[in-house]
Amino acid sequence: MSPTNPLRQEQDRRLPRIAGPCGMVLFGVTGDLSRKKVMPAIYDLANRGLLPPGFSLVGFARRDWADQDFAQIVHDSVKAHARTEFREEVWNQLAEGFRFVPGAFDDDEAFDRLRRTIEELDEVRGTGGNHAFYLAIPPGAFGTVAQQLREHGLAEAPEPSAGPTPWRRVVVEKPFGHDLASARVLNDQLDAVFPPGSIFRIDHYLGKETVQNILATRFANTMFEPLWNNNYVDHVQITMAEDGGIGGRAGYYDGIGAARDVIQNHLLQLMALVAMEEPTSFDAEALRREKQKLLSSISLPPRLDTATARGQYAAGWAGGAKVLGFHDEDGIAATSRTETFAAVTLHVDNRRWAGVPFYLRTGKRLGRRVTEVAVVFKRSPHQPFNATSVEDLTQNALVIRVQPDEGMTLRFGAKVPGTQMEIRDVNMDFAYGGTFTESSPEAYERLILDVLLGDPPLFPRHEEVELSWKILDPILERWEAKGAPEAYPPGTWGPASADAMLARDGRVWRRP
Ligand code: BG6
Repeated sequence: MSPTNPLRQEQDRRLPRIAGPCGMVLFGVTGDLSRKKVMPAIYDLANRGLLPPGFSLVGFARRDWADQDFAQIVHDSVKAHARTEFREEVWNQLAEGFRFVPGAFDDDEAFDRLRRTIEELDEVRGTGGNHAFYLAIPPGAFGTVAQQLREHGLAEAPEPSAGPTPWRRVVVEKPFGHDLASARVLNDQLDAVFPPGSIFRIDHYLGKETVQNILATRFANTMFEPLWNNNYVDHVQITMAEDGGIGGRAGYYDGIGAARDVIQNHLLQLMALVAMEEPTSFDAEALRREKQKLLSSISLPPRLDTATARGQYAAGWAGGAKVLGFHDEDGIAATSRTETFAAVTLHVDNRRWAGVPFYLRTGKRLGRRVTEVAVVFKRSPHQPFNATSVEDLTQNALVIRVQPDEGMTLRFGAKVPGTQMEIRDVNMDFAYGGTFTESSPEAYERLILDVLLGDPPLFPRHEEVELSWKILDPILERWEAKGAPEAYPPGTWGPASADAMLARDGRVWRRP
């Protein structure tokens, strides 16, 4: 059989993927997301030569700014957060394409000005009618902005005079709603204006190199996949821990909490990649189909009270410093019941995973900043050693270290040197840093480039978002009815109920 599939479109990986003529309109230029992630990523892409020479960036906000003021904001953000070195010539070329349109989201005149600005850029910068609208704004405003784009003739690209058909795309960020019902409303608002193929929902975890590597690990190798099922896997732990608190994000975080902020999107996407079946290819349709199938097979254990846990960080000491409790943070009411830690047990109802629990947890002010997926294997069915030889031996595990120490660890038992048979855990390590000379691009660089190229595999589609809410809604409802979350000391691994959740199953959390 021929090893190549003629139906697959091959892309020569030696050729850099460079965006064609285009521009981006950024709504919400004053927010954290724009300043810390989007603007620096655009500069880094330009610096790596991956943006077209005439790339343009239009800022839209309710500020009394001129183009130069906006350029200054971008400049400050690039200086503070860009990953690549600052080069005057790159900056100057990029900055020539900066424009600012002042206005509120319901201001018709401002949207007319925006249209004229884009037309002007098409003329002078050759952006060819191709523009992405990046909504780095609260989701409550998605509907208004989408409608305005439609009403002012911005959502549809102009007819091509010659050459390729111009495109319009919209980029949105989580939270994609607050629950299933609100997610549906948001999806409807966007679907009413843009066709599904033009809507790019960013889940920045999918832009991370180590997350994409889950697919490489599973499907490019022979040795893991035969073990990847309930014959060999005991359980899976997915952890995203942060040592910081909520910082200045009270306005966003309060009322949202850890489960909506992280489990609904990042952790369920990680779980889908770890547990799904092999897609027929890595194009968007095939990949999303498998993720969707997996998400629709997830079920909750019957007793939600003991199969989930939530907490809220108290005041105390962490990393040698005194830190505020969640209730003392600026902008948080003393009565807030928002959880800053969430853990859930999930099952996958299919032949591969029946009986294998997936434990997902996330929290702020935990012991350290780490994201990992640990696939923990069953104990060997028979040990031809006496009990003392193996008393220090735990279960084999494959740990995918998503960040910060990117790589993988394989934990297994080995004989301790000496005249007795003593077996202990050892680790075999793969570290990105020591293996590749190329450094990983920042997740936002990869994702923004994919938007400009119109390459959708790394963007969850609306069915995935809704399925994720379907999983989470019953848990959130249960928590709502239960009252305040349990306090936990900062710098620890969360509330006692999280440990009890695993202890009931005879298991323990890893301490990464
Ligand atoms: C965001 C959450 O999606 O991810 C934040 O809203 C969280 O609360 C952040 O801090 C963490 O991202 P990363 O890439 O640093 O793990």
